[in-house]
Amino acid sequence: MHWYGTDFNAAHAGFARQLAMASGADVGLFDDSFEDFARRRDLPEFDFIALHGVWSWISDRNRALIVDFVRRRLKAGGVLYVSYNALPGWGAFSPVRHLMVEHANRAGTEGRGTAARIDDAIRFAEKLLATDPEYARRNPQVLERFEVLLKEDRRYLAHEYFNRDWVPMHFDTVARWLEPAAVRYACSAAVNDHVDFLNLTGRQRTLLGEIGDAGFRESVRDFIINRAFRRDYWIREARTLSESERAEALRRERVISVVPRLELPLKVRAALALNKAGPGEAVYAPILERLADRKAVSLGELEQAVMHKGISLMQVLDAVMLFASCDLIVAAQDEGATAGARPRTNKLNAHLIEQARLSGDIGDLASPVTGGGVRVERPEQLFLAALRQGATQPDDWVRAASKVIAAGGVVEEPAVDLAKRARTFAEQTLPTLRALAIA
Ligand SMILES: C[S@@+](CC[C@H](N)C(=O)[O-])C[C@H]1O[C@@H](n2cnc3c(N)ncnc32)[C@H](O)[C@@H]1O
Repeated sequence: MHWYGTDFNAAHAGFARQLAMASGADVGLFDDSFEDFARRRDLPEFDFIALHGVWSWISDRNRALIVDFVRRRLKAGGVLYVSYNALPGWGAFSPVRHLMVEHANRAGTEGRGTAARIDDAIRFAEKLLATDPEYARRNPQVLERFEVLLKEDRRYLAHEYFNRDWVPMHFDTVARWLEPAAVRYACSAAVNDHVDFLNLTGRQRTLLGEIGDAGFRESVRDFIINRAFRRDYWIREARTLSESERAEALRRERVISVVPRLELPLKVRAALALNKAGPGEAVYAPILERLADRKAVSLGELEQAVMHKGISLMQVLDAVMLFASCDLIVAAQDEGATAGARPRTNKLNAHLIEQARLSGDIGDLASPVTGGGVRVERPEQLFLAALRQGATQPDDWVRAASKVIAAGGVVEEPAVDLAKRARTFAEQTLPTLRALAIA
C-alpha cells in the first residue's frame, strides 16, 4: 500500500515525516495546501481517500476543491472517508462557540498570543454562563458541553473551536456537497452506529425501519441520537454483494481482543436484557470465551466454534460488532500483512518509547496485528523501555520510570501510584501488548 497525505501546517507535516522516518514507512507526506496538492502531477488514482477533522474546518472553496479532487482521483469501487461536526448535535452550542471566537478576535487583542486569547475567551464564556443566561436555561446541554470543553487540552481547543472556518452540517447537506464527486453513502465508520439494538429503543428502531430513503434515514437517526460528529464511508460505483458473497467476505474478517479481561460492561448487559434485542447471553458468552485466548480469529472460525449451539453467522456478526463497540476487540489484519508491518511498527514503537522519556505527548503505540494504534500511557511506555533494556521485574521498572519522571521535574497529576501500575502492567497489560506484537 502506498500512502500520501497533506496538511499545510508545516509543523504537523514535519512531525508526521519524523514518525515516517523513524519507522521506515514509505509514505508521501506533503505540506501543500489542498489546492496545491490537487494540482500535483505525481499522484496516482486512489483506492481510498480520507479526510479526518478537515471538512468542518475549511472554507467552501476548499470543500469544492476536495470534492473535485475526489471526482478526478478516486477509483471506481474506491472508498471515501469523511468525518465532520454534525447537526443537530452542535446546534445548541454553536452560539457559544460564536461568542468565544468573537471574544478572541476583538479589536485590541492582536498583541496577545493565540493561547492567551483562547484562555480569555473561555474565561469570559465561563463568566457569562455563570450569570444564568436565558439561552443556557432553554438549552441545558450547553452547560454540559462547556464542562467537557473546560477539561480539553488547549491545543485541541484551538483546532476544534477557534479555527477561522467552523461549519457543522446536516448529513443531507454533506450528501449534496458530495454529489459532483459521484460517491454514494455506504455506511458509518463508527462501530457504535452498527449496534442499534443497544442504542435505540424499539420504537425508534421501528420508525427508522419504515424509512426507505437511506440518506433521510441517517438524518432522522442523527436527530434521534442528537449526533454531534459523523464519520462515514462513501463509495464510488458500489457493487452490492450477493448474500453468499457477503457471508464469505464476513467469514474472512479477523478480530482480536485488546483488553486483559473480556467482559461486557454491566450497563451493556443490563441494556441488552432490557431491550430484548441483539445477542443475548446464550449467544455472546460462548463467542467471548472463544476470543479469550488473545489470538486473532476469523468470523468463520468463531462461527465454527459456536455452530453446535445453533448460533448463526449473523449472530456472530452482531456479537462481534457489540464487542467492538465496547472497545473489547478490534479488526485484525491477516498474517501476511502483520508480518510485513512488524519491522516498521517495531522501529516506530522503539522511537515512541524513547520519546516517552522526554514527554507524555504520544499515548499510543502501533500494533502490526491490528494495523492501528493502541493506547499505552507514559508510565507504561517507560516500563516497556525498562523491559527492553533487560529489566524483568516490576520493581525495576518502577525504579527506572521514577528516575525518568523525576529528571523531567514534572509531577504527574493526579499522583501516579507507579508500583500499583507496574503490577497491573505485568499481570494484565503486558500479555495483551505481547498478543498485539507491541511488546
Ligand atoms: C481540525 S484540524 C485536524 C487535524 C488532523 N487532520 C486531525 O484530525 O487531527 C484541521 C487541519 O486542516 C488543515 N488545513 C486547513 N485548511 C487547509 C488547506 N487549505 N490545505 C491544507 N490543510 C489545511 C489545518 O492545518 C489543520 O491541521
